[in-house]
Amino acid sequence: MCGITGYIGEKAATDILVDGLKRLEYRGYDSCGVAGITPKHGLYLKRVSGRVDALDAIIAKDPLRKGVIGIGHTRWATHGVPSEDNAHPHTDCDNQVVIVHNGIIENYLEIKEKLLKTGHKFKSETDTEIVVHLIEEKIKSLNKTGKSGDGDLLEPVFFEAVRRAIEELRGSFAMTILWAKCPNMLLAARQHSPLVIGLGDGENFIASDVSAFLKHTKKAVFLNDGEMAVVKKDSVKYFNFKGNKVEHASVTIQWDSTMAEKGGYKHFMLKEIHEQPESVENTLRGRLLPLKGDILQQEINLPSELIRNIKGVQIIACGTAYHAGMVGRYVFENFGLPASVDFASEFSDRAKIINKDIFIIAVSQSGETADTLYAVREAKASGAKVLAITNTLGSTLTREADFVLYTHCGPEIGVASTKAFIGQMAAMYVLAIHFAVIRGNIFDADARKYVNELLKIPRLIEATLANEGVISDVADHFAKSEHFLFIARHINFPIALEGALKIKEISYVHAEGYAAGEMKHGPIAIIYKGMPVLAIATTSKMLSLVANNIEEAKARGAEVIAIVDEDSREFIKAPRYIVVPRTLEILSPLLTVIPLQLFAYFIALAKKCDIDKPRNLAKSVTVR
Ligand code: AGP
Repeated sequence: MCGITGYIGEKAATDILVDGLKRLEYRGYDSCGVAGITPKHGLYLKRVSGRVDALDAIIAKDPLRKGVIGIGHTRWATHGVPSEDNAHPHTDCDNQVVIVHNGIIENYLEIKEKLLKTGHKFKSETDTEIVVHLIEEKIKSLNKTGKSGDGDLLEPVFFEAVRRAIEELRGSFAMTILWAKCPNMLLAARQHSPLVIGLGDGENFIASDVSAFLKHTKKAVFLNDGEMAVVKKDSVKYFNFKGNKVEHASVTIQWDSTMAEKGGYKHFMLKEIHEQPESVENTLRGRLLPLKGDILQQEINLPSELIRNIKGVQIIACGTAYHAGMVGRYVFENFGLPASVDFASEFSDRAKIINKDIFIIAVSQSGETADTLYAVREAKASGAKVLAITNTLGSTLTREADFVLYTHCGPEIGVASTKAFIGQMAAMYVLAIHFAVIRGNIFDADARKYVNELLKIPRLIEATLANEGVISDVADHFAKSEHFLFIARHINFPIALEGALKIKEISYVHAEGYAAGEMKHGPIAIIYKGMPVLAIATTSKMLSLVANNIEEAKARGAEVIAIVDEDSREFIKAPRYIVVPRTLEILSPLLTVIPLQLFAYFIALAKKCDIDKPRNLAKSVTVR
């Protein structure tokens, strides 16, 4: 989610910053910018709505090229649509302090209100801009604005102003800040968002990841959460947010720059699978209050009256997003609200049965899927209100929907959706619990139980990912199979469908997902000796029935791979197990999907398929 670069040294900063941004574009590319200090023009800034190439072209002969210190940013919009005004860097009122930021400031509205009262003027809709004004405020209150030229004396003021501003921030951030009056230093800070310092000879670098500076240095220091760095051309000093010094040893990076863009993973898909703990965190962040068991609605502004008055929910989506919608349906129903789900391409003709009593939830990673957009228009024409669950700010869907809930998963590059899917499911839980609380369908204590368990999910996903070796071995064993079957019941049935879809997409092999109880009504006939059958058999009220279905498959020669948790394992007899941590039954899809994504990945890897760009597919399907 967004790429940051920073440079201080003796070379032309802008060339280095722009080159670094090009390497970070995989993190987001809807707008970008650079700022620096030039000997003649002081603080100087250029931004564009669009890609880094466009920025590079407009600053080709710019005075900005002369500076030896600067910061840069390529953006994946989270607050404020993609536009030049919302592009980073952002400046304070006097255009003296400038910032680039990655992450989400949760309490930005509160802070913005206070700053507006003290006369600050805002030029963008971003959460980031409040930080730079807050720093300006802190500099003023430290009461030493000084004159240009006495930069070294002002450095402690700059540091302390940024440190005090940080103390007021809630949320996640990686940021780099430049003050025109301190032309010999950059400040960097990290909290729940990556930031790394590159150590050169007479020059130093700051970046969201090492790919931005690997061609200049392989020596790096990864900041920890709660740390700041004072970066000068010949030195870097590290501090915690209390202002105490901390020590860091540098590491030597062995990757080349392509490997670095993928975080050392072989494919974006694998990287994105591993980013899922963070994806869930980002979707939940600021929306769930663990102690009150309440859900913040700041961002989507859904009127409680609307939530109370609707008679049902209709979810529409395509592909993987449709599977998230299926999970959503079970969750809404579990909390007492009738819900149905339809493929957007099938729904359009049925939209006439919709009226204002039915609340539409359209799910789309890209927000540009033609089938989904068309279905939304049809539903709106029938008088329904539409909420979009999407990952993409400023997308067409966000403009057409009445309300938007962003998943904040960051750009998904792999065509096969993984981290966006988990974000869509997390968003469904947020909404369904919130609706249940507002409609009085759930006791506060129960809501709190779900919320608290949801907040544990990122750590449980990490534990599931730690099983990668076992999953890779199982996948290698079955890599030559020509057919795969995935079975599950109830809320894990959509996950069986998703597991099959992942294999089809990236391995081009036939795979079916089936409701386990339906097998005996026909499809069981396709089972042959040695056919791999992946069965989701985690603890649930349906477990004994799933166990029966597994026995039925085994009796016809299937090679069952059972996805179990620690407690369900003893009830399931299978030749192979993949174990996931135990969670509440209703939340289990957030964990059971992980081994299926990895399984599909390793099958495709063994088949040497083009995993990130599978044949015949596009990341966003903009035709009907
Ligand atoms: C998922 O792996 C697919 N690439 C595809 O099914 C996708 O989920 C579908 O096309 C919907 O896309 P959207 O979420 O951007 O609307």
